[in-house]
Amino acid sequence: MTTSSLLEEAIAISKQFDVSKDQLVAISDEFIRLADGGLKTDDMPMTMIPSYVTGVPNGTEKGTFLAVDLGGTNFRVCSIHLNGDGTFDLLQTKSVIPKNLMVGTAKELFSFLAQKVDEFIKTHLEEKFNEEAGHSANEHIYKLGFTFSFPVNQTAINSGTLIRWTKGFDVVDAVGKDVCKLLQDELDLLKLPVHVAALVNDTVGTLMSRSYSTPGESATLLGVILGTGTNGAYVESLAAVDKLDKSIASLAGKSVMVINTEWGSFDNDMKVLPTTSWDNAVDLETPNPGFQMFEKRVSGMFLGEILRRILLELHEKGLLFSSSSTPLSTAWSLDTSILSRVEADSTPDLVAVKSIIETDLGLPTTLVERQAVKLIVEGIGKRSALLAGAVIGGVLVQIKACESNPVVDIGVDGSVFEFYPGYEELMRLALKEVIGENEKKIRIGIAKDGSGVGAALCALVA
Ligand code: BGC
Repeated sequence: MTTSSLLEEAIAISKQFDVSKDQLVAISDEFIRLADGGLKTDDMPMTMIPSYVTGVPNGTEKGTFLAVDLGGTNFRVCSIHLNGDGTFDLLQTKSVIPKNLMVGTAKELFSFLAQKVDEFIKTHLEEKFNEEAGHSANEHIYKLGFTFSFPVNQTAINSGTLIRWTKGFDVVDAVGKDVCKLLQDELDLLKLPVHVAALVNDTVGTLMSRSYSTPGESATLLGVILGTGTNGAYVESLAAVDKLDKSIASLAGKSVMVINTEWGSFDNDMKVLPTTSWDNAVDLETPNPGFQMFEKRVSGMFLGEILRRILLELHEKGLLFSSSSTPLSTAWSLDTSILSRVEADSTPDLVAVKSIIETDLGLPTTLVERQAVKLIVEGIGKRSALLAGAVIGGVLVQIKACESNPVVDIGVDGSVFEFYPGYEELMRLALKEVIGENEKKIRIGIAKDGSGVGAALCALVA
């Protein structure tokens, strides 16, 4: 191995992740075209799902609610007390979803979820539970907001059928079923005093929660998740949602609706998205090849896997990691957090990168190897942020957000946005390409625990 061949190779690989200014504009244009199509008909891959949420909170909302959140590696159960002044108290438990349940039957998965709700109520709300024990289970004492972060065909605030799974889940017999009913049936079997009052995508929850916590300021128009998966929900004029029957009673007098774009499936046809041989290989490893093509270039679940494949290829070419055995041959073995941690190291000797590779992969490294890894990580991370910025720009153009608002607020949640150093700045570079100087009007804030609080807010209005 020569020093220069490894670095040259790393530079060449990193370059494959470049996205030009023209590409960013083309991405945003295509996003607007597909979004427009999705608002007209249901059979578009970027589904543009009406959430049946017809307003955003103003911070004065009050009450105590239960919320559960299924959407990634953990299942969360929480109780949320909204204080009515933009603040809230939250109590939550988190459980890892056993891998076999992610690909098992609907019954197994939803009864596991109901058991976790049961445990939560008995452990944390016991007093209240006992006080209310005299009530019959059918009275459904607690209103529960169900954050379910997969594409569903939502038909009302508390019902929706699963369109397809994403992010490694593949519970085949749940597809086409009403996920609220699946959960309610299991809660009822346990005789829990809980009513599933609202079905909420995590992006909708993020938008609601950000809006609740920034009362009195400019309205939040977009909620974004950049975590295990990626997606965005925004406030659309009801009149623009052609595919929706507006004569139903719950829409009387309403002027806006929150739309869950499902942008993870933006450009599944690969008209404008950039690609590399590693992206194509990762796609084929997933249960849903050809779907979620945007998500597979942007979100946490996939970035580590793209990196693993590149490092393995360099190792097999004899350019990287001289040790004969590496753990790199196991698919999905590289935690995405490695990218944020590598990116954060700006020491001349890359000492943190050295210890990350030693700890996570058990491999010693030379400085040149560490420099090569860092170059590749930067390429993958930067592409993710630029792509995210381009579609955010697309949404803002779609609703002419900057034309009518001095400040446009966006709530974001998710580990990629939160922990990847410089992610927001890179996103803003792309935004500038798409919306020009208006980029300065955009305020981006973290909506931590957004989905739980957002689900509570939706349960309140339901
Ligand atoms: C799902 C979305 C979700 C996003 C972020 C995607 O895979 O399709 O519904 O909002 O992940 O969790």
